[in-house]
Amino acid sequence: MIIAIDGPSGSGKSSTAKQVAIALGYVYLDTGAMYRAAAVGVLRSGIDPEDEIAVANAVRSMDIGFCGDKILLNGEDVSVEIRRDAANKAVTPVSANPAVRDLMVEKQRAFARNHNVVMEGRDIGTVVFPDADFKFFLTADLDVRARRRMREAPEKLGFEAVRADLQRRDERDSTRAHSPLRKAEDAREIDTGHLTFDEQVDKILSIIEEPKHGGK
Ligand code: DC
Repeated sequence: MIIAIDGPSGSGKSSTAKQVAIALGYVYLDTGAMYRAAAVGVLRSGIDPEDEIAVANAVRSMDIGFCGDKILLNGEDVSVEIRRDAANKAVTPVSANPAVRDLMVEKQRAFARNHNVVMEGRDIGTVVFPDADFKFFLTADLDVRARRRMREAPEKLGFEAVRADLQRRDERDSTRAHSPLRKAEDAREIDTGHLTFDEQVDKILSIIEEPKHGGK
């Protein structure tokens, strides 16, 4: 069973997907954290994140995995470092790198072979699992998303800086050549701007648990 949850940064994907996974007893996979860990590895190697060939080679030799809630880079917990501003900046070119995407998608598909999963990202419903059992696309107004991101960031950044960074990432994630951020045609769009966290989770769970889906 695969539940795909896509959407831009700050749309509420991560917290919602995590809670949906807990409620269903499924495994939760944050694919953004995988791209972020790759970006941290690239920064640590002193490679220019825009250097496609060097980045692809570096990421090929990285071991990126999860241990419970933590994301590991070559066995080290980098869960805090991936949320820092440097990683926010480097992850855009690293995640636009076609070779990096191929590597990550392969890992994501392999993971779902052995688990019921709630997987969240940008291209889960469009590219990674076009046949997912359920697809959701979460959205929210840019200002709402910027306020949410400000609360989550480990560094204290101003609203305008966070908003501008989100806008820049939205633009690049949506216009990149390889697997751009877009809603799958058969995904259900949920605007989380006016919903509480519990309402978001309940909305998704109620769709999954609708009687007409009972056999799936
Ligand atoms: O969801 P997030 O903000 O943690 O994602 C970090 C970056 O990774 C984001 O700029 C887009 C990219 N990403 C992606 O390209 N594909 C995914 N499946 C998940 C994230």
